[in-house]
Amino acid sequence: MSQLTLITRAGTHELPVELNETVVAMAKKHKVTWGHACQRGVCAQCRTLVVEGASFLNEITSEEKLRLRKAERAEGFRLGCQIRIVGQGDVKLAHRPY
Ligand code: FES
Repeated sequence: MSQLTLITRAGTHELPVELNETVVAMAKKHKVTWGHACQRGVCAQCRTLVVEGASFLNEITSEEKLRLRKAERAEGFRLGCQIRIVGQGDVKLAHRPY
């Protein structure tokens, strides 16, 4: 079974993967603190570094293209409210707000 690992300042959390659910929604459901205010790709409080498993995630959304610099996206940064897991495989994400 695929696993989602969320790394926050408070520690590392292992969650079961829920396909097509946003990372912010999964974190909330499992009471993992993952900053978010808008859930629309505007505030960037949910800024996330994809550590592992980028190929199992949805394509970068237009909101992420607007909010994150190209260089950040190239380094693997995304927005937790926009990321959805769409494929079977392990994914590791770190919360990295500005
Ligand atoms: S919650 Fe605001 S950009 Fe993700």
